[in-house]
Amino acid sequence: MQRYFCQPGSVIRGELNVPGDKSVSHRSLMLGGIASGTTEVRGFLDSEDCLATLAALRAMGVNIARFGGNRVTVHGVGIDGLKAPGGPLDMGNAGTAIRLFMGLLAPQKFDSTLIGDASLMRRPMERVATPLRLMNASITTQNGLPPVEIRGGQTLRAIDYNLPVASAQVKSAVLLAALRAEGRTRVVEPAPTRDHTERMLAAFGVEVLRAERSAAIEGGQVLRGTPVDVPGDFSSAAFFLVLGALGAAQGLTVRNVGINPTRTGLLEMLRLMGADVRVHPHSKTAAESSQIGEPLADIEVHAGRLRGITVPEALVPLSIDEFPVFFIAAACAEGETLVRGAHELRVKESDRLAVMAEVTEALGVEHELLPDGLWIRGGSGFSGGTIDSHGDHRIAMAFAVASTRASGPLEIRDVANVATSFPGFVQTARSVGLQIDAG
Ligand code: S3P
Repeated sequence: MQRYFCQPGSVIRGELNVPGDKSVSHRSLMLGGIASGTTEVRGFLDSEDCLATLAALRAMGVNIARFGGNRVTVHGVGIDGLKAPGGPLDMGNAGTAIRLFMGLLAPQKFDSTLIGDASLMRRPMERVATPLRLMNASITTQNGLPPVEIRGGQTLRAIDYNLPVASAQVKSAVLLAALRAEGRTRVVEPAPTRDHTERMLAAFGVEVLRAERSAAIEGGQVLRGTPVDVPGDFSSAAFFLVLGALGAAQGLTVRNVGINPTRTGLLEMLRLMGADVRVHPHSKTAAESSQIGEPLADIEVHAGRLRGITVPEALVPLSIDEFPVFFIAAACAEGETLVRGAHELRVKESDRLAVMAEVTEALGVEHELLPDGLWIRGGSGFSGGTIDSHGDHRIAMAFAVASTRASGPLEIRDVANVATSFPGFVQTARSVGLQIDAG
């Protein structure tokens, strides 16, 4: 089992780049795969999750060429061109892949089966199957969990759907199915969630009718291959933003990060805590030239005193993947921090509320686990010791960040899954001063 060994008291400084955005990388392959013509992807995230998407598309007849330096060329087969895979499609740890593929595969002529690793096989799939069935898809789950079996040959019809949970994966699955449904499909969200699918569909030539909390698509549209420049992943940058806020007296800068406003709730939360975070946006032309309308920035952060906050619930969906590392900031802030309305954290790669409570307990942080959140009294730092990430990449990286404020060495177990989202994490972290080794 792979581990991290971290020494306390790191001095953090300098600048870094983070790997490409995971959400955008998955979508660039999927949309490129069903487009006509080629899609050149630069800055592709070469991680296990995205490679699961790549392998699945290849298994369905899409020719994808990989070059060094994170360049990928997808030779699209067109909206009707996917072929039956030879066996079950293995999504590994990737929730985004399995859920978006459900939407992509529901209108196909052929049958398909989607499976994943032990964590993915425990994650809820009915939230996607339910709206797709309303569209006349034929989908079976095992008591709500994978394997997901999709029967081909169904003619899909458009729906008007109010999402019961704020989930970009569910929204995206319905929009992908809508491309081949008869009529206009509309999804309405209870709160805004990441809108990479809507932005990227538009870049591929699809007309997406957008209002404040809804998106609609007329079925039967075709996609045209287009260049995609993948921004640095804000969710990967998040570990370094908190690391800098805790330990970079002279500042730390993360370059070329995607700052799509549906992703950057953590910036607001850190500012409310009193952190010194400075966003230097790239020009608008740069966003346009990325072809997919995703804004970019360099983000600079300086260490300072943090104070506990009550997190506004509206920020929860805008920072949903950042809570593991946010809780580290909260444990280091003076006073109490309260997060509510975050029940979704219980159905991520792990039950992130329960695991964060377990690990903060082990490291001596006063806290209370709530059904939909966590209360933390911060300010007294962490003890050293050995902790278990439960195979969750973001928990593993969050505690590597925490080690800067630990009173002794920290050993983090079960960290191999960091490769699902952040290849090279250890080298990148070491390059800005974090004392971390993998073994
Ligand atoms: C994602 C959506 C979010 C997020 C996940 C990536 C996406 O999941 O947690 O890491 O790419 O659409 P939910 O839709 O389940 O909130």
